[in-house]
Amino acid sequence: MPEVVDFLLLGAGQLLTCAVTGKGPKRGADLSDAGVVTNGAVAVSKGKIFAVGTKEEVERRIEGASVAAVIEAGGRVVLPGWVDPHTHAVFTDFRSDEFEARILGDSYLEIEQRGGGINRTVRGVRESSEEQLFESSRRRCMQMLRQGTTTIEIKSGYGLDLINEMKMLRVISRLGEETPLDVVPTFMGAHQKPPELKSGDRYLRLVVDEMIPAVASEGLADFIDVFCEEGVFGIEETREILEAGRQAGFGLKLHADEITSLGGAELAVELGAVSAEHLIRVSREGVDELGRSSTVAVLLPCTSLGLASRTFAPARDLIGAGAAVALATDFNPGSAPSGSMPLAVALACSQMGMTPAEAINAATINAAFAVGRDDEAGSIEPGKRADLVIYDTGDYRDIPARAGMNLAAVVIKEGLRAWEREGFKDRSEVGT
Ligand code: NIG
Ligand code: FE
Repeated sequence: MPEVVDFLLLGAGQLLTCAVTGKGPKRGADLSDAGVVTNGAVAVSKGKIFAVGTKEEVERRIEGASVAAVIEAGGRVVLPGWVDPHTHAVFTDFRSDEFEARILGDSYLEIEQRGGGINRTVRGVRESSEEQLFESSRRRCMQMLRQGTTTIEIKSGYGLDLINEMKMLRVISRLGEETPLDVVPTFMGAHQKPPELKSGDRYLRLVVDEMIPAVASEGLADFIDVFCEEGVFGIEETREILEAGRQAGFGLKLHADEITSLGGAELAVELGAVSAEHLIRVSREGVDELGRSSTVAVLLPCTSLGLASRTFAPARDLIGAGAAVALATDFNPGSAPSGSMPLAVALACSQMGMTPAEAINAATINAAFAVGRDDEAGSIEPGKRADLVIYDTGDYRDIPARAGMNLAAVVIKEGLRAWEREGFKDRSEVGT
């Protein structure tokens, strides 16, 4: 037992631990169990969770220790911080004119062909200094923290040459060091072929022969990701890049079956990838294979919203097949400019048929599995980092039901108050 409990959180009307019940991520019926404790409490020592349970259970566990501070949740909901396992959060400007163009009927590919899309952001990133890129990305990350996100994966992929991919990865690494967020870096040089190396396999060679070794030798990424899509990187190109990434020591991720049904999910399973992401157009075989595998299916409903599309990934089929489903924002300047995990949870409920408890587990503990951080984040369990969020409501279902309202009131990162809503301390009544 610690001699000093840094703080004791008391009075959680509903404390959702999202604790793992078996081995590995939550699947099937287990996904509905968010570990709800009424009148919950959490004791924190040295930035980690020491005890969690009802007030009586926790008080018994810390008997004799001195308690440095008490946080009274006043009957409110307490959740683990969101883990956002798929973002492209380092960029310059939003491209919301393309959102309007899509509403008016233009397709993603048409926009790309007239100089918009990913290549437009590539131009912006190449023209920006490392400092400019860091500062704009830092502000956006802090906005995500205020919505309760405490761990975030960020992909490179708007540099598309060695110098600019490395610049992005250094910015991603600094975001982890200089913001309260925990940042998981992913190398995604294979996000697009740049205009100057569009044809043949010259860009593929650059990624495999030069970029992967350089990123690995600087230790700048944990994962490698490829946009496996018609007209971007085909199945065989994706396989070659991911095999090279594996050799270099990266975990594997894929943008799979987002716009067309190319067999990306099946490839992810075959390669033993940590995750297959998007899956809007996943085939029936892909669903079944994911169900039998350890590859996490990361679904991104904010992308359907940003694409002005009514088609969402088949979450119910995936859950029914036994797949480990996680949720992410896909935060990026084009197809998903929101960055709000509560919005992703809300869309998962209203558009993909997930219940609030399923969606919350998918956005916390299963998301932590999708980025290999399940031993430290994603649930309120002893030994994990004390990343906790107090929401100004007594009913966790308000979080998706009241979409668009930020209900987060206090965000605690590794035992420290990283953000608190103005005036919150002086108010005792629950709800806004
Ligand atoms: O996940 N699919 C590829 N990449 C992003 C789009 C990024 C962008 O439009 O800038 C995505 O949707
Ligand atoms: Fe993406």
